[in-house]
Amino acid sequence: MPDQKDRSIPIELKASLTSGSGTWHSTGAPGLVRPFLLADGPHGVRRQRTGGDALGIGDSVPATCFPPGVALGSTWDPELVRRVGAALGQEAAALEVDVLLGPGMNIKRSPLGGRNFEYLSEDPHLTGRLAAAYVEGVQSSGVGACVKHFAVNNQETDRMRVSAEVDQRALREIYLRAFEHVVKAARPAMVMSAYNRINGVPASEDHWLLTRLLREEWGFDGVVVSDWGAVDDRVAALRAGLDLEMPPTGTDGEVVAAVDRGELDESALDAVVDRLRRLEARLGGAKEPASEPELAAIRDRNADLAREAAAQAAVLLTNDGVLPLDRSSLDSVAVIGEFARTPRFQGGGSSRIVPTGVSSALDALTRRLGADVVRFAPGYSVDGSGDDALALAAVEVARAAHVAVVFLGLPEHAESEGFDRTTLDLPADQVSLLERVAAVAPRVVVVLSNGGVVSVAEWRHHANAILEGWLLGQAGGEATADLLLGDRAPSGRLAETIPLRLADHPSYPTFPGADGISVYGESVHVGYRYFDTVDRPVAFPFGHGLTYTRFEYSDLRVVAPAENSWEVTFSVTNTGDRDGREVAQLYVGPAEDQPTRPRAELRGFVALDLRPGETTTVTLPLTATDLQTWDARGQRWTVRPGDYAVHVGASSRDVRLRTTVHSDGDRVLAPLTAQSTIAEWRADPAGRQVLATLLDRVSRSGLASSVAPELVRMFLSIPLDKLRSFGLGVTSATVAELVREADARQAELLAAGAYRRPGAARTHSQETP
Ligand code: BGC
Repeated sequence: MPDQKDRSIPIELKASLTSGSGTWHSTGAPGLVRPFLLADGPHGVRRQRTGGDALGIGDSVPATCFPPGVALGSTWDPELVRRVGAALGQEAAALEVDVLLGPGMNIKRSPLGGRNFEYLSEDPHLTGRLAAAYVEGVQSSGVGACVKHFAVNNQETDRMRVSAEVDQRALREIYLRAFEHVVKAARPAMVMSAYNRINGVPASEDHWLLTRLLREEWGFDGVVVSDWGAVDDRVAALRAGLDLEMPPTGTDGEVVAAVDRGELDESALDAVVDRLRRLEARLGGAKEPASEPELAAIRDRNADLAREAAAQAAVLLTNDGVLPLDRSSLDSVAVIGEFARTPRFQGGGSSRIVPTGVSSALDALTRRLGADVVRFAPGYSVDGSGDDALALAAVEVARAAHVAVVFLGLPEHAESEGFDRTTLDLPADQVSLLERVAAVAPRVVVVLSNGGVVSVAEWRHHANAILEGWLLGQAGGEATADLLLGDRAPSGRLAETIPLRLADHPSYPTFPGADGISVYGESVHVGYRYFDTVDRPVAFPFGHGLTYTRFEYSDLRVVAPAENSWEVTFSVTNTGDRDGREVAQLYVGPAEDQPTRPRAELRGFVALDLRPGETTTVTLPLTATDLQTWDARGQRWTVRPGDYAVHVGASSRDVRLRTTVHSDGDRVLAPLTAQSTIAEWRADPAGRQVLATLLDRVSRSGLASSVAPELVRMFLSIPLDKLRSFGLGVTSATVAELVREADARQAELLAAGAYRRPGAARTHSQETP
């Protein structure tokens, strides 16, 4: 933040720039900075025709509806997501939009999260890689991306007030990690601060979050915008590092008054002006609207990409061989379920856009197979519920068919921004419809439409195959037909675990909290991290997904070109008889189980397109960052010395190859103090040497030889200073002397290269009011 106050610009003018001029525009000042047009995001451009609203109920210009986050997350394909981002950017630019409000990248802490359809994954590595690709794509088209919602915005219940009570490790390792990656790797133009509080502090007024962490530690150089209506206290928000309040609340006068009273430093306003000007330098002048033919060409291209992305997003959960449907022997197909005719393809709330055209699976299948082959029965109505008459009609259609393709899912009203779900179950009428259809149909394929995961345990045995179709955007119908008929092979993988029961989930006892508090009791054990650490059965594990061929893994080798740096090489072979894509996944965790650390965490993945019989060899890097854990006492990332298990496979549970690597840790110099334990002193090379004299004295006193092993262990956990109470002749002077000696010895060893200097993150601690 510049210390110099820029006196040439009136305070009133500067203050006016710190809030918008309307729902979607920032304020401009001629000769100083132009206004920017912002629009939702994330999976389409929601450019409202008039002033507009933030709730998605207004009228917006038709735009390509790409698959929402849940579907893009399941592609595990950063290249595809980058292309989607670039396409969104082009369409946004054509509609004069400067900044697209996406990606949504909060971690799916609970499967009940009402906005899970907008988010990418329960895992920060996958989220970070995909969100970075999205940002790079959007920004390659000259439009800014705005990552949201920063941070720890993992529920809709009480979303504008709730405090996410989360420990530092979970914050750093899970909830902030993907944001950190995107900010550092993709340099988004904007970050949107969340509605909620974090450990009591409103995210939009959190100086630690918005300034110390985001700007000083991570190097963010863009603009922080509030979520729509997130700011309670303008002055506190500006002090914290929030640049732009959206939409405006008419409180710029309060900002001016605070500067006049000396409660807000004017340099905070200068910093906002600087950042807005930097944004202008980055984005250039106001966008020219595209001509109708240009726009039409962009939409045509984007519609094709929306279909490609949708086809890559669906996840084949089970298949006994019924899929792909064999066209040559298909003379009757029962298509059952209203969602085949009236598709669910996006979620509710601010991300809702008006699509340029929607395909239904029923139309797509009928067009390709013929109206004489496809017979349809809705089975239930568009609100998801059914009745006996609808079910009976569906049973009659199924009875006469070779195969029944049954579309099941959640109705619109079951999931949206603004509230969380309360159950994972499909509507009961749909489950009973499936049972009745399965009783008469020779073969049953279930296609699911849902933004958040649904439980499958109670009905999966009725299906010969299950295709998880999520919400696939406007081209989902065509894409579903592509997959069912084998014109494309499924390649999606689960970006979130499907539990057997809601009550199995680690978030179950504490989500969504009560009385304004949501305690993140599971800490870092989010999603598969918990299920795999405690070996709890799941319906389908994280990373799971089938295709129409099989793959074998072989030849795992690891080389270590440098300290704490490895190259993990392995081969994958397509052993089936069709083309297919495998998503090979790399997980790492401590070789010996330590309950405080997840057993294994995703640290790399690669999508491999292989022809039958083809083998490919890939190398994935593994670095110190991948082994790090957050040291809350030392306030820094640390690599603990030890052996680490390296797993390569097709899901978090389907491990095909494994090995271990050893790390000596990061050898970062951590000062030894009177409060460091004897074990910590002994683990440090300087501490070991300095302590030797003291330990000598203890053993000479005859105490050590008579001490039982458990007492030795107890002794190890004692802070040095506490030895004064144990009758060993240790005084405050002895402790101070040992600390001085250790300090000097550490300095010598540091000069000799035995340690690394601590990194910049080290001094950051959570600020609470
Ligand atoms: C949502 C944001 C959205 C904004 C503007 C808010 O309610 O949380 O994701 O970008 O509205 O529509």
